[in-house]
This record gives sequence, structure tokens and C-alpha cells, in this order.
Amino acid sequence: MTTQQFSLIDQAIHFALSKIELQLSRQPDFPHITEGGKWVYTKDGVWTGGFWAGSLWLAYSETKDEKFRVAAESFTERLLERAGDDRNHDLGFMFYPSAVYGWRIAGHEEYVRAAVKAAQSLAGQFNPAGNFIPGWGFFGGHDWSGSVLVDTLMNLPLLVWASENGGDPHLLEVAVAHATTAIRHHLRDDGSVYHVFKFDATSGAPIEGDTYQGLSAESAWSRGQGWAVAGLAMLAGMTGRTDFLEAAKRAASFVESKLASDPIPPWDYDAVGPDVPRDSSAGAITAFGLVRLATVTGEKRYLQLARSLLEALSTRCLSSEDQESVLAHATADLPHGLGIDESTAYGDYYFLKALLAFRDVDSRATR
Ligand code: GLY
Repeated sequence: MTTQQFSLIDQAIHFALSKIELQLSRQPDFPHITEGGKWVYTKDGVWTGGFWAGSLWLAYSETKDEKFRVAAESFTERLLERAGDDRNHDLGFMFYPSAVYGWRIAGHEEYVRAAVKAAQSLAGQFNPAGNFIPGWGFFGGHDWSGSVLVDTLMNLPLLVWASENGGDPHLLEVAVAHATTAIRHHLRDDGSVYHVFKFDATSGAPIEGDTYQGLSAESAWSRGQGWAVAGLAMLAGMTGRTDFLEAAKRAASFVESKLASDPIPPWDYDAVGPDVPRDSSAGAITAFGLVRLATVTGEKRYLQLARSLLEALSTRCLSSEDQESVLAHATADLPHGLGIDESTAYGDYYFLKALLAFRDVDSRATR
């Protein structure tokens, strides 16, 4: 065996697959976030169910072990009935890693029909006055119809994919319009992003930046930054648009400067101090985005940063034996006291996704 086969990246892939296999034997519902290292489950998959189904598809494509395929199909099928949910901006999170990837791997045509329907439900929420898809509907009894989340950038690849797979060409127009709005208003001059940007829902006029999960309106919530890097890199690759690519590079250059001394992101880039909680899930999402950016641009520096992030996660953030997840030290929502120094379904999914993507690009780059 060569040294390459024993790289930290390969070891982390092996670790993630073994944790996913163990998880399969535990509970018949969707793991969401952990409490005290044990998963909290949801029956319908809330907004995170696609990540568990996606982890199972990744495990199947990597191992060809039939038990992963059977489980991936079962969890994906449980999500399909939610394709018509037209007050949900998270449909890309729910349908891309599950139905779209599942269709690519196993070829089930009903997944395509459901994913296109989910894309239509997402695009149906588009506000043409402001050129955006709002976040959260009426979540928590509050009207969020004028609030736009940076996270939504990562839901737009579903629209682009659907426009090329039987959906209406209008889906692509919605994706481009929303991304253009987000680049104009969420992306700041230094490459950091607002978590939330508020608009007048009737006139569409921009009001101001805000946050829900970050430290303050003007801070850079690290997971939001990760969604921006990854979402923009995917959109740039899928559409070939140079404005999206430039925006992805700006968001990535902010991360580059922040992670130079420590590659594990703090939960918010403006939260400082040695004991500040980290967000490994932000690191995993960012790493995935950087690998995508490296493939779109051919620039090695993005791959180098992805490597340093993934190696740091692989040495400092793997869960212990009594923790049920793959990746420890995530922070789900610090301001609301949720999942601090715990694990998340999205952190686990993007960690494995980024490791596999990095390995495949890196092995091509070094062949
Ligand atoms: N809603 C997406 C996130 O918490 O990252």
C-alpha cells in the first residue's frame, strides 16, 4: 500500500462510513442534531432529512453495499411527499442530496419527478417585486416574507438542475434572479455575507442587513459564509456565469483570510477568544465549496485551503466512541441555545461529501 492510501483524508472517509453504518442500526427516523452526543430524530426529516438520505447515498456509492442503497431509497422516498410544500425555502437542502443524487446513482425516475416538483414549489415562492425567494414563511409566528437568508443560495442548484431535467426554463431565471439579488445585497465589500437581508415584501425595496443565527447584523456568521461559498461555487459551475464565479471567489477570499491561523471556523467569524465555540459544520460546508471552486477555476489555492480544513476537521473534530455522529464540535444556533458543541446532519453530510470530492479532485490533480 502507498502512503496515499493511508492519508488523513482516506482515514476520515473510512471513519465516516463506519459511523454511518452504525447509525443505520439505531433508529428508523431522520437524525437532525445531537443533544449530549445522541441524535434527536424527526419523522418527516424537517429541513435536514435530505442530508441523512444523502449520506446514505454517498455510503452506497462508495461501498456498493446493498444495505446502504436500501436505506437510502427508504429515506429518500419518505421525503418525496413533501415536494409540494410551497412555504419552504429549504427544498433544495431536502431534495438535492437525496432525490437528485439518488437518481444519478440509482436512476429512479420518480425521484426526478418529485425533485422537479420541489423545484417548482421553491420557485413558486419567488417575489418578483424584490427578485428573491423569502426565508422561513411564517416561522415562529413572525412574518418573514421580506427576509432573505443567505442559506437560500445553497437551495438554488435544485432550480438550475430542474430546468435542465424536465422542469420549466423559468426555474433557471428564478435561480439567476435570486442569486443576483443576494450578490448585490448579502455580499459585502470584504467578501463576508449578511445572514439575513430585509426587504419591503410589497415594493421589493431593500431595507437592511440582519441576522438570526449570527452574533450581530454586521457580523459574519460562519455557516452562512459556508453556504455562500458553496452555493455560489455550484451555481457558477452549473451556469457558467462569471458574475457568480467572481462572487464565489470574493466569499472564499474572506474565508481564506479568516482561517489562515486556525482552519476550524468559530461559530461566527466575529466571535473572538480562545474558548469561543467552533462550528465544524461551517468548516465542512466551506471545504465542499472550496473543492467546487477549485474544479471550476482550476486554481490550486482553493484545493490547498480545502485540504487544510479537511485535515483539521479530521484530526480535531471526529466524534468519540460514545457520540453517535461523524463530526463533533458543530454549533447549530448559538443565539437560540441550540446544538452548541454538538453535531448536525448537514455537518456530517458535507464532511463526507467534501472528503470524497477532495479525494477525487486531488487524485486527478496528482495523477
Ligand atoms: N438553516 C440553515 C442553517 O442553519 O444553516
